[in-house]
Amino acid sequence: MTETTQKHILLNAFDMNSVGHINHGLWTHPRDESHRFSELSYWTDLAKTLEAGLFDGLFIADITGVYDVYQNNIDLTLRESIQLPSHDPSTLVSAMAAVTQHLGFGITVNLSYETPYQFARRFASLDHLTQGRIGWNIVTGYLDSAERLIGQSGLKDHDLRYEQAEEFLQLCYKYWEGSWEHDAVEKDKHHRIFTNPSKVHEIHHEGRFYQSHGVFQVSPSRQRTPVLFQAGASTRGIKFATSHAECIFIGGDTPEKLRQQVIKIREQAAQQGRNPSDIKIFVGITVVTAETTQRAQQKLEEYRHYASPEAGLAHYASSVGIDLSKFADDEIIPYQKSNSIASVNEKFRAQQISKNDLKNQHVLGGRYPLIVGSGHDVAEQLIQLIDSTGIDGFNLTRTVAPESHHDFIRFVIPELQQRGRFKTAYKTGSFRQKISGYGDLLPLTHPVEQYRCSSSTSSMHSFKHKKITA
Ligand SMILES: Cc1cc2nc3c(=O)[nH]c(=O)nc-3n(C[C@H](O)[C@H](O)[C@H](O)COP(=O)(O)O)c2cc1C
Repeated sequence: MTETTQKHILLNAFDMNSVGHINHGLWTHPRDESHRFSELSYWTDLAKTLEAGLFDGLFIADITGVYDVYQNNIDLTLRESIQLPSHDPSTLVSAMAAVTQHLGFGITVNLSYETPYQFARRFASLDHLTQGRIGWNIVTGYLDSAERLIGQSGLKDHDLRYEQAEEFLQLCYKYWEGSWEHDAVEKDKHHRIFTNPSKVHEIHHEGRFYQSHGVFQVSPSRQRTPVLFQAGASTRGIKFATSHAECIFIGGDTPEKLRQQVIKIREQAAQQGRNPSDIKIFVGITVVTAETTQRAQQKLEEYRHYASPEAGLAHYASSVGIDLSKFADDEIIPYQKSNSIASVNEKFRAQQISKNDLKNQHVLGGRYPLIVGSGHDVAEQLIQLIDSTGIDGFNLTRTVAPESHHDFIRFVIPELQQRGRFKTAYKTGSFRQKISGYGDLLPLTHPVEQYRCSSSTSSMHSFKHKKITA
């Protein structure tokens, strides 16, 4: 076997600070506890469970806005709790960090509605409090409802959102890595020097979307820049992701499509001067598992009884920005350009699909690939998927919460470990060190390098960074 086929599988739990996340309708299952999502103990218990199962991270999705595209209203969204209500994910991190030592936290923030300075400050603070366990899933939004809520005139053009994201990141890099030298904080009581003034520098930024001048307010945290997650799948999205992201999420309904995306991502990363294997590629999956194959099938049937494929369709409608309720169940849905998630919408161009097809694919109310079987069956399929596509790991959705995570840890993890494909203990270090093995900081091949401040002890308090050309 080659080294590639032996690699350990990376694993994130995929969740949201809400009732319905991906697999809609399962909140009605008698054993499901997702209705407790606003209780802190729900999250601290989950964090402890995931760490006991040696998960690399808890990845928390988020949206700004509501799903109001299906039937042009939010009635089904409210009745089925399709990511509504949903609460701010970053508020959960400190509590979960306090009850764990190793688990990483990938937190989604939509940059379109943040100021770079306030956002960078919040995440640098979280990196301090978690001792280097914070990650950021960079999203730009896809909902018109968000624009109305925030008071803007309409969703920016798809590619323009990525242009803004480029500049947002450049400015964040300046704050996180360009303002404070690594040894600026001396905490020297004897000489009355908390921070050495010669080692803190103003940053200067005059761009197309943002302006900022001054020093950053947060001292260097362990990772400085949080671990960067992204899911760009359009042409512009992949360019953005391969330039900045350390972890990329991809979707695809066949292993061959996943393999092609992996090749494209690694090629583009190399073209941008990055080491292709520095980028870890994740696929979202749903798993139903039990002691035996038969018991797993029975569990699936039981779950199906509570799932809502129609709620899955409503979620899908908002993702593509097209009201799917307007089509008859068996009518082929024509491709129409929209301004939402371009890559998901492409499905209508590539395939002849109807609402019935989509509902059949949403067996458990969500669109992620479903794997059903004993721990042995699931482990074999996951390994097969990793080895045939070149991906690095999975984002595991929840079904009945928290039962499905307990099941995965009990039945699947030991099978993966027996095959040498999953760690048996955490390594030490930050989230970045654990995922990439490179250390706490982004490598020199990453674009952040051009925004880092000199580590010289020059007394120059203010220096100009390279002007951005966004
Ligand atoms: C696994 C995964 C998780 C995602 N999570 C979120 C999220 O939490 N919030 C969000 O606004 N978009 C999320 N997205 C959507 C992406 O941000 C992005 O819009 C999408 O992948 C399409 O990229 P494209 O516009 O380049 O096609 C997610 C996508 C994937 C594949």
